[in-house]
Amino acid sequence: MVKIDEIKKVAVLGAGVMGHGIAELAALAGFETYLRDINQELVDKGMSMIKKSLEKFAEKKRITQEMMDQSWKRLHGVVDFDEAVKGADFVIEAIPEVMDLKKKTFKELDEKTPKHAILATNTSTLPISEIAGATKRPEKVIGMHFFNPPPLMPLVEIIRGEKTDDETTQTTVEMAKKMGKMVVVCRKDVPGFIVNRLLGPLLAEAARTVERGEATVEEIDSALAYKVGLPMGVFLVADYSGIDTIVKASEETKKRDPMAPGPQKLFVEKASKGEYGWKSGKGFYDWSKGRPSIPAGVGEKFDPVPLFAPVVNAAAWLIRNDVADPQDIDMGVKLGLGYPKGLCELADEWGIDRIVTILKEKEAKYGDYYKVDPLLTEMVNKGHTGVKAGKGFYDYAGAGYTYKATIFKREPPLAWLILNRPQRLNAINADLTADLDHCLTELWDDEEVRVLIITGAGDRAFCAGADITGFKGGTPNLGFEATRRLQMVTTRMEKFPKPIIAALNGFALGGGLEIAMACDFRLAKEGTFVGQPEILLGIIPGAGGTQRLSKYVGLGRAKEMVMLGDRVSVEEAQKMGLINRVFPPDKFEEEVKNFAKRLAAGPPIALKMAKYAINYGTEVPLDIGLMVESGVFGVLFGTEDMVEGTTAFLEKRFPKFKGK
Ligand code: COA
Repeated sequence: MVKIDEIKKVAVLGAGVMGHGIAELAALAGFETYLRDINQELVDKGMSMIKKSLEKFAEKKRITQEMMDQSWKRLHGVVDFDEAVKGADFVIEAIPEVMDLKKKTFKELDEKTPKHAILATNTSTLPISEIAGATKRPEKVIGMHFFNPPPLMPLVEIIRGEKTDDETTQTTVEMAKKMGKMVVVCRKDVPGFIVNRLLGPLLAEAARTVERGEATVEEIDSALAYKVGLPMGVFLVADYSGIDTIVKASEETKKRDPMAPGPQKLFVEKASKGEYGWKSGKGFYDWSKGRPSIPAGVGEKFDPVPLFAPVVNAAAWLIRNDVADPQDIDMGVKLGLGYPKGLCELADEWGIDRIVTILKEKEAKYGDYYKVDPLLTEMVNKGHTGVKAGKGFYDYAGAGYTYKATIFKREPPLAWLILNRPQRLNAINADLTADLDHCLTELWDDEEVRVLIITGAGDRAFCAGADITGFKGGTPNLGFEATRRLQMVTTRMEKFPKPIIAALNGFALGGGLEIAMACDFRLAKEGTFVGQPEILLGIIPGAGGTQRLSKYVGLGRAKEMVMLGDRVSVEEAQKMGLINRVFPPDKFEEEVKNFAKRLAAGPPIALKMAKYAINYGTEVPLDIGLMVESGVFGVLFGTEDMVEGTTAFLEKRFPKFKGK
């Protein structure tokens, strides 16, 4: 078996759109990379595309000039097959999606690469096991489904063939991660794998909905873009991908998978008229004047949930057959298809019972394709109908408490509290304050959860402050009580025995910033703003803004922010010391998770004591603060984690902390 550290030479076969992008990633990851195609012209074209892409990365400061030069030196474009694969430790094949061609290539690879080499195929449709069958080492053959364009798309789907072994899977996962990608492992070689298996039914249902006269193309696309928040509607996606390509892919999938919806009449008719979409100038939309724009209002009346019911059904099939977990599915659709939320998360919000009712209605009208997956039936029978029940695909709540204004997700070692009033930019009301308080209680003694992350639903706001609509008819005493309550919760956050991260995915204003300031870390999405705008409403901050802000930014700046009410960009706020890190939008969730996981791997008791020493220390004279520091330092001396930390240091290994 080959470990990731032992891999020196990577061969990429095929210098086309996918191949050259993959080779670029391999070179950037530090491997000697051989890019091979069948003639010099194709190789040269691939290499020049890589050069351009590397230059663009350097220009945008995503890589340094040196990284660019070094990567370029590691790249070798060749036509000779033997030269490309001789001595390769890892091969990624990215030739055309033709089974016979792939089999022939893998047979040759098996003969010409070292016995330890892993042979990966970049495919989005073909069965891995069949390709592996052409070799004498099926346990070392694996699928690596990159998304187009590989250097920019954050996801790689890794697919195990029937015989792929654990070591090969592990090394391939590490290879993809080294290439800077997030990974979902598709545990079984099922047609469409995870992502395309879920894309197919959505396209099909959209087409059927139009065929049945229930909605227009524009209504569906508008609702998907503006109500669900997909990057674009499915018909626009079809126009981009090529309607003929979609028909062909649906035919291929149907051949191998009787459960697949197959090619839809609407698509077939378009393709037969030569209306392929963007590339032919006309598809579902007219492209003669550039990218069509779809107005937000058109889809207002269209309910998108029935469109997703068969997709959720397909997800349930994947979970029940142990192909993927809800987490894999959600990561797949978020990173591979740009969903704003995971499919299972959405299904939990819509209600599993509702999905089942829709499927039953469709089954009665249109037949077996809509047959409810037994997993969904079981979930409904057990009352696991989603967020409202506290349990669906995910666990949302502890016994008895219903989170009304937030979504609580426990994913040890992390837990998430998602402020969930997106229509009001997650503004704070009494329910939200109560949820926040309850979440702290619920996690206080939970040994499995080590870090809490607070973030906002939707992509516009973390939280836009107190709900101003609730101010009408307020009395001085109500104002006093409301602020006191939030103050008590934010103070509890500072006493909470584990790190709390505020993931600022949009505006953090007023009370939103005050909640964030009571967290231990503030990680922000590039391009967002923070501020204390209360003064503009004729009031002042009421949940610690006049007290905590100056600790982060100093008195002068705090007065400016509070008394002028200006919004400050997170980039500027980072310079002031208010924000810890700023991440680009496409990496935000991943970076937040990475940050949280690093904390979660730390020694829980020492983290708690560090938090207390700092938080309590700022409240008291230095002498007393230092006394607190010595006190908790002493406490740590008795812990098993301290023994583990010091032993691991001496044994030159990573420590494993248990919180004991
Ligand atoms: N309370 C109640 N509703 C709020 C809100 C708040 N604090 N902040 C935003 N909303 C609502 C808006 O009224 C609007 O509702 P509508 O669609 O029914 O009209 C919706 O959320 C979207 O906000 P909108 O103002 O249209 O978005 P925008 O992108 O133009 O501006 C903000 C975003 C955050 C700059 C702006 O909403 C704002 O200034 N909010 C108030 C912030 C504030 O003063 N907070 C302190 C409160 S003490």
